[in-house]
Amino acid sequence: MFFASDNWAGAHPAINERLLRESTRFAAAYGTSELDRSIEQRFNEIFEREVAVFFVATGTAANSLALASIERPGGVVFAHSEAHVIEDECGAPDFFSGMRMIPVEGAEGKINPLNLKARMARYPQDAVHHGRAAAITLTQATEVGSIYSLDEIQVIADIAKGESLPLHMDGARFANALVGLDATPAEMTWKRGVDILSFGGTKNGCWCAEAIVFFDPDMARELPFIRKRTAQLFSKSRFIAAQFEAYLKDGLWLELAAHANAMADRMRQGLSASNSARMAWPTQSNEVFAIIPKGSAKAAGEKGAKFYDWLQPRDMQEAVSEDETLVRLVTSFATTPDDVDAFLDAIA
Ligand SMILES: Cc1ncc(COP(=O)(O)O)c(C=O)c1O
Repeated sequence: MFFASDNWAGAHPAINERLLRESTRFAAAYGTSELDRSIEQRFNEIFEREVAVFFVATGTAANSLALASIERPGGVVFAHSEAHVIEDECGAPDFFSGMRMIPVEGAEGKINPLNLKARMARYPQDAVHHGRAAAITLTQATEVGSIYSLDEIQVIADIAKGESLPLHMDGARFANALVGLDATPAEMTWKRGVDILSFGGTKNGCWCAEAIVFFDPDMARELPFIRKRTAQLFSKSRFIAAQFEAYLKDGLWLELAAHANAMADRMRQGLSASNSARMAWPTQSNEVFAIIPKGSAKAAGEKGAKFYDWLQPRDMQEAVSEDETLVRLVTSFATTPDDVDAFLDAIA
């Protein structure tokens, strides 16, 4: 009953098998092998255009270096107030990019366009004292399990373009959002105005594989140097490429995300039908947030369930009483229907 995070899951056997095979041979280092090149080509196919791809080890690195690539002195980056770049990366995006992350409020973990415009108005291009708007970053799927619709992405992108700002997407759970929307990778990114993507593989079945994708390769000019200086250029980069090869082969990545989302659906249905829980807010990806009695949470914990209590968001409508707790339940490619049912039994 592991619902603490999709980071707790192992790696998919097809990815392990590919890594094992890779480990028996020699190949050129530092991202110059044929395998590295072929996976870069694979990204072109997936995104239906020529992209520039850079492998890194963590989602924090992907976000931080993506933002570092568009650094402007005195720049500020607008993100949702609960965004990973603001809440969970220990200031790494600020540290590496030299820019400040500015929080924007919005319901269900999504940037509210009106709040965004109001925030941006405080950082005009000539604001030498406050700093100037330099980029917008949104998370897809969001940190609270919701998904921006294609139109919602477009609205944020239009605001960015109106001010000539680049739009970055934190896609640590890109595949979960993609299958949730039933969209193509191109439709959910550059066709809706996204310029740079942090493409996550680790949470969805890889061992350690993240990539920064630039939809305009020209924007990636500085990234090779930024990546080296931030110690993210791996000598054995081909082991990330090998993971991506298996991950992207025959739609495995989409299959795994669809499974994780289906397990979250099962959890949602079970919780909604249960007398001992209610949904905190609707979610669409592989994260479920529920309000359950503290006694049920304790009982589930004693039976071996792993999950986190969650801080109540400011805009949350549902009241959490004294004897209740808000919990986050994350499913993954490795979650089984039995795991979900066992958790539902444990809190009943
Ligand atoms: C939305 C989001 N972005 C980025 C990350 C990247 O995290 P890490 O640096 O731990 O790989 C995470 C991981 O939990 C995440 O949830």
